[in-house]
Amino acid sequence: MRYKVTVEDVWFSYVRGNPVLKGVTLSASPGEVVAILGPTGCGKSTLLTIMAGLMQPDEGHVLVNGEDLFRNIKALRRHIGLLFQDPEHQLFNATVYDEVAYALRTTGMPEDEVRRRVLEVAEELGIKELLDRRPFKLSVGEKKKVALASILSYDPEILLLDEPTANLCARDEALIISTLTKARQAGKTVVMASHDLEFVFRVADKAYIMGNGTIKAVVKGEDVIKPEILEAAGLTPPLITMVAEHFRISYEEIASLTRVTGERKHQGQSLRLRTKVPVPSSDTVACNHSDKGSG
Ligand SMILES: Nc1ncnc2c1ncn2[C@@H]1O[C@H](COP(=O)(O)OP(=O)(O)OP(=O)(O)O)[C@@H](O)[C@H]1O
Ligand SMILES: [Mg+2]
Repeated sequence: MRYKVTVEDVWFSYVRGNPVLKGVTLSASPGEVVAILGPTGCGKSTLLTIMAGLMQPDEGHVLVNGEDLFRNIKALRRHIGLLFQDPEHQLFNATVYDEVAYALRTTGMPEDEVRRRVLEVAEELGIKELLDRRPFKLSVGEKKKVALASILSYDPEILLLDEPTANLCARDEALIISTLTKARQAGKTVVMASHDLEFVFRVADKAYIMGNGTIKAVVKGEDVIKPEILEAAGLTPPLITMVAEHFRISYEEIASLTRVTGERKHQGQSLRLRTKVPVPSSDTVACNHSDKGSG
């Protein structure tokens, strides 16, 4: 089953009389990767926590296929995976293996099937060599990948990801893009908060720009690098925007070169993320990250 998530006029305060969310409305459909952008402290994590059903809004609703999340929380929660901004809040098992297996074991799944699924997800996120390690001894980026694996293991239909690429290197970022691309193709509903504009540009179908507790604008994913949109949102242009400006390359051309969704349309199924660095002559340097080890 596929799930559309709708946030309707949600208000929320940690401290009475000082609302963090002041009437937030947004939606994400199956097969869509939706980003939430906005300055530090504007309420992105608060919103994702409410969408995951961990906190109730003071006013407004979170609807899943039109049904109020909080009226049917027990049944709906197992279809939702929340990746916390701080992976420390997510990890509590003795080993990485147990961490990734945890949710599966709670369903009573036979152990050999649990093992098969754990290994599959560990392979996908490149954490196989971490399986025997203690989660709290890992680096922050490793913890983030393990936390993500602990969610992907039970294959939720709704993925709520808080800063999924924070503390990750470029290769791991490509892994996350590949994971999200697969999620989109499988018809999952993805909502993610991110400060990483290039990542959002590459993978998001649409982006909501938050500020002062409300949604200021909604734009197409490929538009998040456009200066006028960044300016209106109070965001600093990423390098890709400066490169485009400097070499007078149109944003449409940049998008067709580097957006995964664009690549997907051209090349069928598998991820082929190409980064071409345009130079003033007609030479281009192509680097295909999908080939392991090449650069
Ligand atoms: N448990 C809490 N109690 C009181 N205030 C909180 C709590 N959690 C968050 N806040 C406040 O709510 C506001 C929104 O925080 P939130 O973490 O949702 O922002 P954010 O947009 O995710 O920020 P960042 O970009 O830094 O991740 C901030 O002013 C924060 O200080
Ligand atoms: Mg946050």
